[in-house]
Amino acid sequence: MNNILDQNLVLKDKKVLLRVDLNVPMKSGAITETSRIEKIIPTIKLLVEKKAKIIILSHIGRPKGKIAEGMSLEPISKKLSLLLNKEVLFNKNIINENTLSEINKLSSGSIMMLENIRFNEGEELNNSKFSKKLSNLGDLYVNDAFSCSHRSHASIEGITKYIPSYFGLQITEEINALNKITSEIKKPITLIIGGSKISTKIKIIKNLIKKFNNIIIVGGMANTMLKYAGSKVGKSICENNCGTLIKEIIENSNKYNCKIICPVDVVVAKKLEGTGEIKDINEIDDDEMILDIGPKTISSIKKIINDSNTVLWNGPAGYFENPNFENGTKKILEIISQKTKNDKIFSIAGGGETVAAIKKFKKFDSLTFVSTAGGAFLEHLEGKTLPGIKALNRNV
Ligand code: 3PG
Repeated sequence: MNNILDQNLVLKDKKVLLRVDLNVPMKSGAITETSRIEKIIPTIKLLVEKKAKIIILSHIGRPKGKIAEGMSLEPISKKLSLLLNKEVLFNKNIINENTLSEINKLSSGSIMMLENIRFNEGEELNNSKFSKKLSNLGDLYVNDAFSCSHRSHASIEGITKYIPSYFGLQITEEINALNKITSEIKKPITLIIGGSKISTKIKIIKNLIKKFNNIIIVGGMANTMLKYAGSKVGKSICENNCGTLIKEIIENSNKYNCKIICPVDVVVAKKLEGTGEIKDINEIDDDEMILDIGPKTISSIKKIINDSNTVLWNGPAGYFENPNFENGTKKILEIISQKTKNDKIFSIAGGGETVAAIKKFKKFDSLTFVSTAGGAFLEHLEGKTLPGIKALNRNV
């Protein structure tokens, strides 16, 4: 990592394309958690101080290359402006023939945020024509989005082929912290994995098995495992067609002696706004959905965490946004925090939803490290060099 954005770079009047991750949790158009916005402020301040012209690129959600209602970055640009106490111009259009002339009107030290980069078809396809077009909008590129660096997308990977590219402050801090911690961790190591992004994570679990002594599966991923094992999961979120992968997960867990733990009891309701009922996993009705883990599952998780020297956590145990389904996530956090405090174990948590839960239950300072990244954090744990990071290193 030689090409890090630093005080010595001369950036006056340079157009800096800054890729950040503003994929923050939202509810009914309002931002519910702002950590990812706060984390990029030092990089933006440095660029402002250096009188660069700052063009912010980010995605939110998965609009699949089309303009999608409810996935605009406009509310986030307003929030950023409030936090910075500085104007952030918002460019509502997808990238077109006028974008460059609009950017060229920027004055030194001013900021423009472009609309959701994933509204452009070429972004997720990592299309070379689009990557080049994007690079033409700036003089240099900075990636400050560790949490997106596992994606081979145009604004992460493709763009670096056409423009001088740098690591931002936040991505550098995150890579250094994770490298340090992962080189020091001690066995037994437990991974707790949950949340709603099942398809991304289920593939990663298979490769992580050899590195862990225990993998505790909760949230949407657990529903997928339970369904495969023959339990009824009613209307719960789950992924179909994962049979082969789950079979491989089980085979690998036997081969590498990694214990896989799934819920034995859960909290169910007929709707997200409902109140919960505790049920064993073989008692779930067709019109119910699993929204949290139950007390028996929590006690077995407690025992495993207490027998571990390292705990890594990505993805909440349930729909913690509703207090009726927050208990599992809250308890996991309390157990990890207590164990970190008492026995000085390593505890690392990461991911948008996980960070939101940690903030909600006010435990930000009680873990060894909290990463903004979810999928990228897991792929980094796999030992992979993430495509976005590889691209920056290649660009030196
Ligand atoms: C994340 O929230 O993990 C990142 O923003 C990446 O989002 P994605 O999984 O939709 O690519």
